[in-house]
Amino acid sequence: MLVLPPVAAVLALSLSALGLASNPIPLDAFPRAVPRGVFAERSTSKCTVNETYPTPSLPSLYDLLKRDAFVTRKGSELFLLNKPFRVVGPNIYWLGLDENVGIAYPSKSRVLDAMAAVSAMRSTVIRAHTLGVSVGNPLSVEPALDVWNEDAYESIDFAVLAARVYGLKLMIPLTDNSVVDFWLAHVALTSFVLHSYHGGKYQFIQWHGHTFSGTGANITPEDVGAYFFNTTAIVNSFKRFINHHLNHVNRYTGIALKDDPTIIGWETGNELSAMRFGDGPAPPNWTRDIARLIKRLAPKHLVFDGTYPLNTTKFHDGLAQAEAVDRVYVVGEFDWRGTSGTDMETFFRDLEARRGATGTLFWSLFGHSDDCCSYVEHDDGLSFYYDRDDFYRTQGDILTAHAERLNRGRVTPEILPQVACPSRGAGGAVEQLLERFLPLTGNRGAAAAALKSAMSTV
Ligand SMILES: *[C@@H]1O[C@H](CO)[C@@H](O)[C@H](O)[C@H]1NC(C)=O
Ligand SMILES: *[C@@H]1O[C@H](CO)[C@@H](O)[C@H](O)[C@H]1NC(C)=O
Ligand SMILES: *[C@@H]1O[C@H](CO)[C@@H](O)[C@H](O)[C@H]1NC(C)=O
Ligand SMILES: *[C@@H]1O[C@H](CO)[C@@H](O)[C@H](O)[C@H]1NC(C)=O
Repeated sequence: MLVLPPVAAVLALSLSALGLASNPIPLDAFPRAVPRGVFAERSTSKCTVNETYPTPSLPSLYDLLKRDAFVTRKGSELFLLNKPFRVVGPNIYWLGLDENVGIAYPSKSRVLDAMAAVSAMRSTVIRAHTLGVSVGNPLSVEPALDVWNEDAYESIDFAVLAARVYGLKLMIPLTDNSVVDFWLAHVALTSFVLHSYHGGKYQFIQWHGHTFSGTGANITPEDVGAYFFNTTAIVNSFKRFINHHLNHVNRYTGIALKDDPTIIGWETGNELSAMRFGDGPAPPNWTRDIARLIKRLAPKHLVFDGTYPLNTTKFHDGLAQAEAVDRVYVVGEFDWRGTSGTDMETFFRDLEARRGATGTLFWSLFGHSDDCCSYVEHDDGLSFYYDRDDFYRTQGDILTAHAERLNRGRVTPEILPQVACPSRGAGGAVEQLLERFLPLTGNRGAAAAALKSAMSTV
């Protein structure tokens, strides 16, 4: 017989009660006090885990329904099931493919570990590059022009499933401006040195026979990136990628990416207005063209158009522009250390007061390594780790308080248990708990097995 830890038991009971209840349960019927505390056993973990996670809250009926609901826009505000919705959370760029562990798909344990941290931080959205940017690498969705690699979807499908289970929404860029230098350090293959490990617009340019050299801001010719926007054959090949990707059906949920309410929307590309490569920003006709395609394929998803970079002046200017055309403004990346000028608290208070600014996504979240005894390290100096030590705890509290203020009286995220590391081996209770959040469609057996495997490695 299964012995449930007390909190999980209450949650499990309330969830089965939901299914059987003859009287409608009012939205937000359940208490949600979330003191920082310790949940579930940690005894089977290999090493001491120092983090403490908030005690899980009890999902309301609303929390259950929101997993199947699309985020919608009305003017410069977002809504989920008729309640105002704010975008707040981290960037986790590595969910589809990670270059920090060799170049490999992240383990399912790491994905759940990260999502649990996001949930503990009261977040609503994750911005996840490699769930949409995936070209030119043997492990990509499109390793070579018009060659499709269905195996690359395993990690993407699992990340989308995990986000659903945690009640989170995903914002996904479809290409990337970057030609990054650090790729050189990882791979000696000359065919890859000109673009980042997950690929991006330069991969399409290279596929169409344009030659260039150098990386990052030193690319030559410096305007070569413009071919991505001005050449019909290249635009069409990018459209074929979008078409293939959005029509992909998730092996766990049975839901095509274009129809999945877990996805809040698609960003035409990451940092496409980065002017440092001399190629100029994405031209409006290209953005219109790509946005129309996305909307035709996925009419219930939002489309995001990005700019770059951000400072307080630019934030106010950009917000004013978005509000003038009755659209929503999201800060898609910012430095959570607050070392790039304005301190975080001032920036947050400024943003929270503005109606058209839905919220912020900090750069960027990492979690434990597979054995739970250490963390996956990344070299850009901006990796955030939930509760790793006093510094991260202090900064994390500022980020979480910001999320709580944004969510107040709106769509309040529930908190689900930390699973992958500290609660590993929690007697099957957590597994069963999370299984209750699987969609009714798709291959529920495979989805449950995937979740279970994520909780039982090591
Ligand atoms: C496209 O961009 C490239 C690189 O900037 C430029 O050399 C070329 O003339 C452009 N072609 C058109 C049709 O605008
Ligand atoms: C946008 O306009 C430019 C110049 O007018 C043209 O070269 C390009 O092909 C157009 N792009 C699209 C996607 O229509
Ligand atoms: C902020 O960005 C604006 C617009 O790009 C620029 O003119 C200004 O110099 C920047 N301010 C600071 C303090 O970097
Ligand atoms: C937990 O803290 C101890 C003592 O400070 C430290 O030795 C250990 O490495 C920490 N564990 C992790 C996973 O960070």
